[in-house]
Amino acid sequence: MTTVHNDTPSYASNPDRNLALEIVRATEAAAIRAVPYIGRGDKLGADGAAVDAMRTFLGTVNFDGVVVIGEGEKDEAPMLFNGEHVGNGSGPRCDIAVDPIDGTSLTATGRPNAISMIAVSDRGTMLDASSVFYMEKIVTGPEGHGVVHLDQTVAENIRELARAKGKPVADIRVAVLDRPRHEGLIEEIRAAGAHTRLMLDGDVAGGINAARHDHRVDMCIGTGGSPEGVATACAIKALGGLIQGRLVPQTDGERERGLAAGLRFDHVYSADELVAGDNTLFVATGVTDGELVAGVSTDGPIVSTSSIIFRSHSGTVRRIQADHVRERWS
Ligand code: FBP
Repeated sequence: MTTVHNDTPSYASNPDRNLALEIVRATEAAAIRAVPYIGRGDKLGADGAAVDAMRTFLGTVNFDGVVVIGEGEKDEAPMLFNGEHVGNGSGPRCDIAVDPIDGTSLTATGRPNAISMIAVSDRGTMLDASSVFYMEKIVTGPEGHGVVHLDQTVAENIRELARAKGKPVADIRVAVLDRPRHEGLIEEIRAAGAHTRLMLDGDVAGGINAARHDHRVDMCIGTGGSPEGVATACAIKALGGLIQGRLVPQTDGERERGLAAGLRFDHVYSADELVAGDNTLFVATGVTDGELVAGVSTDGPIVSTSSIIFRSHSGTVRRIQADHVRERWS
C-alpha cells in the first residue's frame, strides 16, 4: 500500500495551468504544414511552411514568450528569430526554444524521426548558447546520475551505466548521430562491448528516447547542435534523467562570440545550467514516423497528429492524438 505523508506538498490538490496544452497546437500546425514537403527534396520549403504555421499559432497563446533559441539572428530569419516576442503578450513571462522541424533533411527525403518541437521555461532561465553551434552531449535516464560524466571515457560511462541499471554491458544500446566526426566514438562504444544505434539526424528525439524508462536505448552521446541540447534538457528534467553538455566552438569567430556571450568551453554544463528551475515544458509533434512520436498521417478527410508533452513541474508525460479536418487546413 502507498503511504501518503501529509507534509508532502500535493501536486494533485493544488493543480495549475499547463501551458503546453495550448502550445501543442503550434507544433501540430507546423507538422501538418510540413506534410506536402515530406519526401519532396525541399528542405527550405518544409522549414518555411512549418515556421510560418508555428508562429501563427503561438500568437494565440496566452503568454509572453521570448525566443531564446530560434531560427537564427533577425537579419537572417524573418520569423521566430532569437529575441522575438511570441504569444499574445499577457500571462506568464517565459523563455522559449523553437525548432519547427528538427530533421529538415529527414523531412525532405521522407525518412523517419523528424519532429516539430517547442520547449518553454521561466523567463531568464534558458542558456542562450546560440553563438556556438555545436555541443558535445551525454543523455541517460535517472540511473546515470552520479555514475555517468562527460569527463569520463566512453567505456567507463557504458560500464558504470550498465552497473547502475543492473544489466550487462552487452545489453547497453547507445544512440549516436551518424557523422564522420563520430567515427572514433562509434569504435569506442563497440570496443566497450555495447551496441550503437546510429541516427541520421534528430538528436533531440534521440536524447529523449535515451532517458525514457520504456525505451530500448540507454544512452545518447556525441556532438550535435547546442540549441538542440538546451531544448532536450527541458524534456530530460521532466523525466528525471541526466544530461550534460560541453560547447565545442568550431572557429575563432565562434569562440570570440561565445566568450562575449559569457559561455564557457572548458565546462560541463549540467541540466540546471542548460535550463534553470523546475518549470520546464517540452512539446513535440511527429512530422515523419519516429520512435518518440508517430508522424502526421492523412486518411481521406482526416489529418491525424501524434504529440508528446513533458512537464517538469509535475513530471507528467502526456500523449495527445488529434484528428483534424483536412479541408480546414487547405
Ligand atoms: P536540422 O533539422 O536543423 O537540420 O537539425 C538536425 C540535426 O540532426 C539536429 O538534431 C542535430 O543536433 C544537428 O542537426 C547536428 O548537426 P549536423 O547535421 O551538422 O551534424
